[in-house]
Amino acid sequence: MTLYETEFASFMKTTVPWDSPNYDFKNSPFVKRQELVKKYAWAILTDKAIEQLRKYGPFIEVGCGNGYWSFEMQQAGIDTIATDINPVQSNEYGFNKTWPIEVVAMNAIDAAKAYSNRTLLTVWPCYKQSWIDMTLRFFLKSGGKQIVYIGEGKWGCTGNDSFHNRLARCCDKIDEIDIPRWEGINDRGYVYQRKGA
Ligand SMILES: C[S@@+](CC[C@H](N)C(=O)[O-])C[C@H]1O[C@@H](n2cnc3c(N)ncnc32)[C@H](O)[C@@H]1O
Repeated sequence: MTLYETEFASFMKTTVPWDSPNYDFKNSPFVKRQELVKKYAWAILTDKAIEQLRKYGPFIEVGCGNGYWSFEMQQAGIDTIATDINPVQSNEYGFNKTWPIEVVAMNAIDAAKAYSNRTLLTVWPCYKQSWIDMTLRFFLKSGGKQIVYIGEGKWGCTGNDSFHNRLARCCDKIDEIDIPRWEGINDRGYVYQRKGA
């Protein structure tokens, strides 16, 4: 099991439902999630997901935060380059742990252009900002063919509307990846291929 999967699974054994008399907010998934997104990532990566992803590599991950997903994928022998506009130390999302992996300080748009020969991987791109849509646009324009998007669907809290619209317009969904979810979060993995590629 991955490190995140292991910690998530063991935590879930200790927590009780919110309507139980023994409910303890301090030990609730809500509080634990705040801690683990800063240590690992905004979505939970499993060994099973890694094996499903393997055939779509090599990857260029954009907006990788502290690089946890890329770290686990590299450990599994998958060729993955980790990039983020902000190194961990200054990241506005408050990551508090580094992993033994090089996170290249790079704007996602530049990374997508430079590495369009790889599969674009994006985990929880911000929904309030347009960078992920611009990244997809330039990735496709530069000849990019495959995209792995991890997050919520079109009306969720990841990826802006234009990104979801562009994915639907320009790409075909070719696979889905089931991952564990925090309470109230509808995370899933989606693999897309550029139409006609
Ligand atoms: C919600 S966090 C997700 C981080 C990571 N993928 C995860 O799941 O933990 C969004 C990340 O996007 C990065 N980001 C924001 N704008 C960016 C841009 N223009 N290019 C690259 N990364 C960007 C932020 O620094 C942040 O690390």
